[in-house]
Amino acid sequence: MTSGCPRAKLYRDEPHSDPYAVYAEMRAEHGPVVPVELEPGVHGWLVTDYTTLISWSRDTTTFGHDARLWKDFREGRIDADASVLPMMAPRANALFVDGTEHQRYRRAITDSLGAVGADRLAEVTERYAHGLIDEFCERGRADVLNEYARLLPLLVINELFGFDRHQGVRFVEAMRNLWLGVDAEKSNAEAERALSEVVTAKHREPGDDVTTRLIQHRAALSDEEVIMQLLLVVAAANEPTADLINAGVREVLADPNTAPDRAPSPTAIADTVDRVLWQDPPIANYPVLYPRVDVPLGGGRTIEAGSPILLGFAAANRFFMEENAERMAESANRAHVAWGAGPHRCPAREEATTITMIALRTLFGRLPGLRVEVPPEGLRWHLSALSWLPVALPVQFTPQAPLNPVAEGTPWTASDSPPATSARRAPTSARSPLSSLSNFLVRLMRGS
Ligand code: HEM
Repeated sequence: MTSGCPRAKLYRDEPHSDPYAVYAEMRAEHGPVVPVELEPGVHGWLVTDYTTLISWSRDTTTFGHDARLWKDFREGRIDADASVLPMMAPRANALFVDGTEHQRYRRAITDSLGAVGADRLAEVTERYAHGLIDEFCERGRADVLNEYARLLPLLVINELFGFDRHQGVRFVEAMRNLWLGVDAEKSNAEAERALSEVVTAKHREPGDDVTTRLIQHRAALSDEEVIMQLLLVVAAANEPTADLINAGVREVLADPNTAPDRAPSPTAIADTVDRVLWQDPPIANYPVLYPRVDVPLGGGRTIEAGSPILLGFAAANRFFMEENAERMAESANRAHVAWGAGPHRCPAREEATTITMIALRTLFGRLPGLRVEVPPEGLRWHLSALSWLPVALPVQFTPQAPLNPVAEGTPWTASDSPPATSARRAPTSARSPLSSLSNFLVRLMRGS
């Protein structure tokens, strides 16, 4: 039974204060594998059970990531303007293919990313973290999500991938829109156009960056394939890492053991990140599996071959935690599925963790007295079929003087203003290259 049965609606028109309550209701009504409507006219299933999610992700005989298996799409039943299409329609990228095709793309990505090196990643992340904090530290209040968490991974990726400022900023809104399914077709076209320009520029002038390494990789990817891997990595990297940083800040501040005027230790921060990956994984319902054969569920229900099955990491983690509270309390348990499972498991766990740890350490180290400005019930999430994206995280802290490590020698400096000559900010009112960039990005994020 796949058609005609009541389906749970995975999207909400207004921001919501408690995504888990929505999912608990679905689960109570339908059981752990829920028939869902991703948007009007797009149907599928959502797995909210931890064990099922892992075993289906690993069972490559029965299930594939290959979007060409999507039956309704193949048979023309999905509107051309459906907002999930850029995140679900077939594409030549690692996440959407299986077997040897998948290995070829995945190796090109992991080799190119791996060549960055842990020290360079840490140095770039720390430099931009300080630069962003400098922009708001004198104010005594900030929106940690939109002024810090969402900008930091973006700036890091832009530098490591060799994008210039104008190419980079064009991704910001496009990426968030893709996760939210807003203006999806336009956003996707915009991101592809920007990436195509990057690839053309890197052919002309290769650099020590991830994009050049992808172009030159022995897998001999076509330009189209390079663009598709870049789009995947930028989409996979930015918003989820931003959400992990944001949730990490929230969780540290909610912890009664956090002293108000002392930065938490690196161990406490690492434990918090593990806890957040369990209870609030950044990617809620993505990616998608397609069964190659009909899958009986019991109770007379069957998932038809070729139906999209969303991997509900957030719900699966949370419900498993609730049902196994005692086991969870025993130790710092890292068996969560926030990074996925099976052959497509996130290849950049270490990079994402490094960026997040440095982001949290730097923020708490610089801003004593950090506290959230609104009660927990005042926070809101946008709920779309694939994700739950927080709206804002307003905080207050004791105002601090900026350190001003202006981002010298970065792609941003060159296009914004003459390079800074001093490592310290001279008059605090002077606008650094990062200042005009981050102000621009914050306005873009808020749609103003
Ligand atoms: C906190 C941040 C992140 C989280 C929670 C996360 C999580 C995930 C998940 C759940 C998947 C799908 C796994 C599956 O299908 O079983 C995935 C795939 C992927 N992620 Fe991440 N990710 C994060 C950050 C990053 C970053 C920083 C990058 C790159 C710089 C990245 C690159 C990728 C790529 C390329 C894939 C596709 C892999 C494949 O299909 O083989 N991710 N990630």
